[in-house]
Order: sequence, then C-alpha cells, then structure tokens
Amino acid sequence: MSNQVAMYLDILKGLAVHFDSRLITDIRETSLQYPDIRLGHALNHNQSVSKKWLIDSLFESTGGKLGRVCILGGWYGVLGFKLLHDPRFDIEHVTSVDIDITCKEVALSLNRTHVDASNFSFIAADMYEMEFVRDEYDLIVNTSCEHLETIGKWFERIPTGTLLTLQSNNYFGIDGHVNCVETLDQFKQQVPLEDVLFEGELELKKYTRFMLIGRR
Ligand SMILES: C[S@@+](CC[C@H](N)C(=O)[O-])C[C@H]1O[C@@H](n2cnc3c(N)ncnc32)[C@H](O)[C@@H]1O
Repeated sequence: MSNQVAMYLDILKGLAVHFDSRLITDIRETSLQYPDIRLGHALNHNQSVSKKWLIDSLFESTGGKLGRVCILGGWYGVLGFKLLHDPRFDIEHVTSVDIDITCKEVALSLNRTHVDASNFSFIAADMYEMEFVRDEYDLIVNTSCEHLETIGKWFERIPTGTLLTLQSNNYFGIDGHVNCVETLDQFKQQVPLEDVLFEGELELKKYTRFMLIGRR
C-alpha cells in the first residue's frame, strides 16, 4: 500500500472516531479489502450527489416509512448502505440485486453493519428475468435505467400500484449506457407511472440525471 493510500485510510479511521460512525468504518474496511477503482466511482462526488438527491426526495415523497426495499442494478450496494444508515427512514430490509456476481462480496462488506443485523441481503439476478410478486416489496428502486436496452420489457413485469423510484441520465457514450434519454419527458414515456409523487432533473458536471418517484 502506498503512503498516500495509507494516509487516506488513516484519515477515514480518524473521521470514524470523531463522528462515531459505522458508515465511515464500513467504507474504510471495504476500501482496504477491495481496493478497486470502481468502488471509488460508486462512492465519488457525482454518485454521492445523485444518491443524496434520491434519498432526500424519497423522504419528502414518502415520509420515510419504506418497509421492504428492493434495489435493482444495485452495483456495490451503496444506495442500500446510505438508506440504511439514514436515521430518517424506517426500513425493514434492503435487497440489493445485480446481474454481476462480483458485486456481491463488496456489497456485503460495505453493508457489514446491516448484514449482521439481518437488514441487508444481495441477490445475483437479471432483473429482466425476476418474478415481481405483488406486495413482496414496498418499494422498488432502479437507478440503472440507462443500462436497460429494452426497458419496457422490465417495466411491464412490475405489478401495478408498486411504489417505484427510478433514475436515468443523458450520459451517452459510456460503456453499458445503452438506454440514455435526452429529456425527462422521454424518460416518463419509457416508464409511464400512474401516480407521480416526484419528477425532476439534476444538473451534474458532465450530464443530467432524471428521476421519477411514483406508483406503477
Ligand atoms: C454502473 S452501475 C449503477 C449505475 C446507476 N446509475 C447508479 O448510480 O446506481 C449499473 C449496474 O447495473 C447492473 N445491471 C445492468 N443490467 C442489469 C440487469 N439486467 N439486471 C440486474 N443488474 C443489471 C450492472 O451490473 C451494474 O452493476
């Protein structure tokens, strides 16, 4: 480990003491065990701003009682981690789903505190093939809509009335971004919600992120 990396990890350790924070400890221990640049991407500034926007909007739209949450395309489990560490929310369980099995160990490490409390689990699955049973989840989140080439085929599997939180973006030209949209209206056409609780766009440095919260 370089001196610089050791210094950053020490700073995280120091911050965890100062704030008495399991959140910072879990990030530090996961970074130490999985020093992968993609974990850095998942926790970087743009990602953090986008997740905070989602979390604050979800709180304002729902009052915070979320129950059983399913996060699709959940990557390294960062959103579940942030929701579960946020004291404003009443969450029974977060299930983070990703088609990429290599995300599993990292997501479980990052969510160590909540795995130990039986509040977080990871499922390796293709969301196009999942059976979404009515009332199995109180909230389904999908912040990876830009990754779904035939998004309609996924959307039609979701039972009507299900509470959804969805994000997409106009960040064309990135590996895996096969379904970016130009505008919020285009996104709304892809995932037509019956009852919209929130809709908005967030200008980031290189792209715009779009978000919808509402019932299918
Ligand atoms: C780059 S990540 C997350 C991007 C997203 N904008 C975010 O910030 O949460 C996209 C994730 O979606 C996952 N993914 C793509 N297609 C999927 C599918 N059909 N089922 C489940 N996960 C999928 C990928 O494996 C990847 O971990």
